[in-house]
This record gives sequence, C-alpha cells and structure tokens, in this order.
Amino acid sequence: MRAEAAPQPGGLERFASAGKGRGLRARRRYALGELLFSCPAYAAVLTVSERGGHCDGCFARKEGLSKCGRCKQAFYCNVECQKEDWPMHKLECSAMCVFGQNWNPSETVRLTARILAKQVNCNGFTIEDEELSHLGSAIFPDVALMNHSCCPNVIVTYKGTLAEVRAVKEIEPGEEIFTSYIDLLYPTEDRNDRLRDSYFFNCDCRECITKEKDKEKLEIRKLNDPPSAEAVWDMIKYARNVIEEFRRAKHYKSPTELLEICELSLDKMGAVFEDSNVYMLHMMYQAMGVCLYMQDWEGALRYGQKIIRPYSKHYPSHSLNVASMWLKLGRLYMALENRTAGVKALKRAIGIMEVAHGKDHPYISEIKQELEEH
Ligand SMILES: C[S@@+](CC[C@H](N)C(=O)[O-])C[C@H]1O[C@@H](n2cnc3c(N)ncnc32)[C@H](O)[C@@H]1O
Ligand SMILES: [Zn+2]
Ligand SMILES: [Zn+2]
Ligand SMILES: [Zn+2]
Repeated sequence: MRAEAAPQPGGLERFASAGKGRGLRARRRYALGELLFSCPAYAAVLTVSERGGHCDGCFARKEGLSKCGRCKQAFYCNVECQKEDWPMHKLECSAMCVFGQNWNPSETVRLTARILAKQVNCNGFTIEDEELSHLGSAIFPDVALMNHSCCPNVIVTYKGTLAEVRAVKEIEPGEEIFTSYIDLLYPTEDRNDRLRDSYFFNCDCRECITKEKDKEKLEIRKLNDPPSAEAVWDMIKYARNVIEEFRRAKHYKSPTELLEICELSLDKMGAVFEDSNVYMLHMMYQAMGVCLYMQDWEGALRYGQKIIRPYSKHYPSHSLNVASMWLKLGRLYMALENRTAGVKALKRAIGIMEVAHGKDHPYISEIKQELEEH
C-alpha cells in the first residue's frame, strides 16, 4: 500500500463537470486498449475467507505464504509485504491473538479502521505535558498542514487542548515552515524507518542528506582492540531489537524485570558503544522512567545525569526532550535537597521553554513557583 498520490497523468485533467462536481477529462487522444492511468489502493483489507490463499499485503495469489509470527492468521509473500502491511495489520494483530477464531468484525469496520488509522497516524497529534508524559490525542487541521524536517524551524506545544506553534529559528520570508513529526534523537536510518512506517515518506532535509550527526549518535568505544565493522553492525541490530522488545515488555513485565532488561542490554551494548551512543541513552532513559515509577529518586537521578549532556548534543538547540530532561533532573535535585544543582537545572529548562512554550505559559509559572518555594 502506497500513500503517495499517483503522478498527475499528463494526458488527463481534473475539471468542474457541469452539475456533476469534479470530473476527469482527456487532454489528448487515447488509442483503443491504452492505459489511461492506474491508482494504488489508499487502504485495502483482504477478506477473512481468503486468508492463507492470498497475501494480506499485496493480494497476490500464491502457495506457501508465510504466517505472521504473532497472530498466525495473516499471510504474506515475504518480509517486504509483511513490513509494508504492518502499520495496518498491527491494528488487528493483537486482537486476533486474543480472540483467535472468534475475531470476526465486518469488512467495512476493518476498512474504516484502516482509513481512520492512516488519517490519525498522518494527521493526528499526541498531547504531552512539560515532562513529556502522554496526556491524550487530538486532531489540529491547521497544524497538520506543516511538513516535516529533522531540522525544524518551529515547535508545537500545548496549552490545554490549544496547540501553539513557535519559531525555534529565525524564519525568512518565503521559507517553508517545518515541524518535526518524530523523536530526533536517532540516526538518519532509524528516523526514516519511523517516517516511512507512520507517514509514508522519506525525509530529504539537510540532516538526512549530510547525516552529520550520525557518527556521534552511534559513537563507538575507543579501545586498543576496536570492534570490527561487523561486530558494530550486529550490536546496532541487537539494540534495535531490544528497544522493540522493551516497548512490548512494558505492557506486561514488572518494574524489576524491566530494569533488568535495561541493565543487561546496557552491559552488553557497553562493550561496543560509548555511553553517549543513542541506543545506550534510549535504554538509560527507559531505566530512568522505571526508577521514577518506583519512586527510586536516586536511581532516576543517576540515569538522568548520564543522559543530559549527550542529549543536549544530539538534539537541536531548542528541544522539548532536552527541556523535559532538565526539568526532571531539577525536580529530582530539589526533592533530594540539592538546591544549587536543582536551581541550575530548572533554569536550563526554563531557558528552552521560554522559546518553545512562550514566556507566559502556565508550565513556566509553575516552575518559577518551585524555584521560590525551595
Ligand atoms: C501532516 S501532513 C502534512 C501536509 C501534507 N503535505 C498535505 O498536503 O496535507 C503529512 C504528510 O505530508 C507529507 N510530508 C510531510 N513532510 C514531508 C517531507 N519532509 N517530505 C515528503 N513528504 C512530506 C507526507 O505525505 C506526510 O504523510
Ligand atoms: Zn505480497
Ligand atoms: Zn499478526
Ligand atoms: Zn530529515
């Protein structure tokens, strides 16, 4: 399934057809049997009774299709078809696991879910608070007009359910307004995997072309006996898997088990990766989250202290991820009675938030209040 509009066929044009709304008309002669145009499905769903005989992704009729490893009820030509269909199949996969043969919604319901999911994936927003905790989801039609760049010139923040868009760079007349749709911590390939999965495009921003930050983001330990290119690549694959494993484990494992996944993976990756490597930072960030959940403030602070410097280097200069990390650190220091460090960290957070959220945002007043109380 492809989301790009079909190339505007040159021999055809859209026009207002009297009394019929919009119509399509020929601008040249077409020979008998000539193809006028073709159009990939915007969304499609294979009927339940044809499962196993046709690919759930491309509808090809084939024998020996391979099963989805999770639900064992969707079938594909190969990994490519499966990967391409995953954004849609994931809407059904877990329900199919739970309900098995009893899972039987109507085809219209399934197609509608796919259409809506595509709309919401591409045009929906998640609203987060100042520490980036999830508050909810919403549709903002005007905000959705902005295209993506990994070096954005605006940031979107929220005041209740109001979305506000502020410049984080000077913007010249004629320049396009770009926001970022994704977490910018990760290297170019990972960012584009994400953009393809959820938004169906590849980014061609300056960062994606020069890949300038990739080397630092994937920093390898400097050892007398440096790891081979293959060992590095294997570790990157391991890191991506463990990130995915952790994402799923969060739904059913205990905090102690989750911390164990973090610590084991940090140990293993630490043999090859520097502490500033984004995969290390990802697992430290997860570990910090678990510590916060368990109210282990010292543990959370230790992880946060290791994260903040490399974070500031990897993210653009005004970043909500960096601001929220300073904020979490500041609040931890304050709770642990280290006022000097706390004040410094909270001021760093305010510095970024005054640009991204605007000086009069209630979050900033709250933080200033915290500074006075202690
Ligand atoms: C929220 S909409 C942005 C507005 C969109 N251009 C439109 O016409 O409605 C997201 C979609 O815009 C396109 N898009 C956004 N940023 C892009 C970029 N940097 N390169 C190519 N396509 C992009 C993709 O098709 C994406 O799914
Ligand atoms: Zn297929
Ligand atoms: Zn499945
Ligand atoms: Zn980019």
